[in-house]
Amino acid sequence: MKKEPKIESATVRAEYAQHVVPSYKRSATAPVLVRGKGSRVWDADGKEYLDFGSGIAVNCLGHAHPRLAEVMRRQGEELVHVSNIFFHPKQAELATALVQRTGPGKMFFCNSGAEANEGMVKAARKAGSGEGRYEVITALNSFHGRTLGMIAASGQERLREGFGPVMPGFVYVPFNDLAAVEKAIGPKTAAVMVEGIQGEGGVIPATADYLLGLRKLTKEKGVSLLMDSVQCGHYRTGRFQSYELILEKAGKREKFLPDAVSMAKSLGAGFPIGAVWFGEKLKDVLGPGSHATTYGGTALACAVALEILKIIEEEKLAENIAARGEELKRGLAQLTGKGWVGEVRGYGGMVGVTVRGRTHAEVAEALAQQGLLVVPAGSDVLRFLAPYNVSMAEIEEAVRKVEATL
Ligand SMILES: Cc1ncc(COP(=O)(O)O)c(C=O)c1O
Repeated sequence: MKKEPKIESATVRAEYAQHVVPSYKRSATAPVLVRGKGSRVWDADGKEYLDFGSGIAVNCLGHAHPRLAEVMRRQGEELVHVSNIFFHPKQAELATALVQRTGPGKMFFCNSGAEANEGMVKAARKAGSGEGRYEVITALNSFHGRTLGMIAASGQERLREGFGPVMPGFVYVPFNDLAAVEKAIGPKTAAVMVEGIQGEGGVIPATADYLLGLRKLTKEKGVSLLMDSVQCGHYRTGRFQSYELILEKAGKREKFLPDAVSMAKSLGAGFPIGAVWFGEKLKDVLGPGSHATTYGGTALACAVALEILKIIEEEKLAENIAARGEELKRGLAQLTGKGWVGEVRGYGGMVGVTVRGRTHAEVAEALAQQGLLVVPAGSDVLRFLAPYNVSMAEIEEAVRKVEATL
């Protein structure tokens, strides 16, 4: 076999500096990653890392899963893309599978999380347009994406700096504060949009009472309830949707079904796909010609997403990540108060640790030196976003690597 020439990290970094827009916070020593397998990745110099960043909550099956590689090859040879003015069976099958797991309704397919949220907000505005309702209430500290619409929607001022004029129609209120939402709802309100667990904001779960209160309030006021499940959904917490887990943990038996749920990240496990589930209220609002995207729900993307669902179910990976997440939390909690380790929170493959005495970026770099990749969030949190097929031994290894940085 022909030997591939060695990739020089310095050359790759220099090419980035010259030809890639510097919009991402990348440290000068960030690894040049060239290969992955399961929970591990390797850089160009052969250094091995345990990848608990998972491409920011994306690679739910780890790296180079053989069944995903195979489905991509098979579908690639059969049919990759046709226009959405035609039908194809994979989109039908995926829509059915996602509706079965979420609730009665319909799916819209797109390519990313921001795009899914755009679709959700468009539908809510269209539904409210007859009554002059267009405003969407979102939470402070929330993150909904980087399009012009979603930087306006996100409850973080820094995302908007320099990009004005900002799209009007968004109102921000403190997270987990039902009274603040009630006060903000007015005759122009079309929707309330929240994350089940704020991800970029620092792994902050909604409370069960907040979610149930939002559902009751929005129903009473004729306002849509939109859940941004891009990061916390698709089994990341061990349940299909984080709101199911939050309600279950709180012992709440009430039925909770929002009017729309956005999906991306783990839905494609690294293959770009986004989607929105619309419930009874919104499922037919986006009529012919009202919303579209060329690549939405290609045969290839849908085949990959279907295979991911099959793997998660056949291999009981939701149960696995729920159990491994508890082990990780237990291991990290034993280090609380030592060195930089503060509070440990979250569920399954979405665990956050607050950082004390140092910046989260500094600690992330120290962990990378130990061979553990994690992702900073908020002002002082590190996210541990393990793949769903992570093993107990890998969890223990991650905790040992954390201990080594104290
Ligand atoms: C909760 C949430 N919504 C939306 C997005 C945006 O998704 P994308 O980067 O795929 O556009 C993200 C990305 O981190 C997210 O965490």
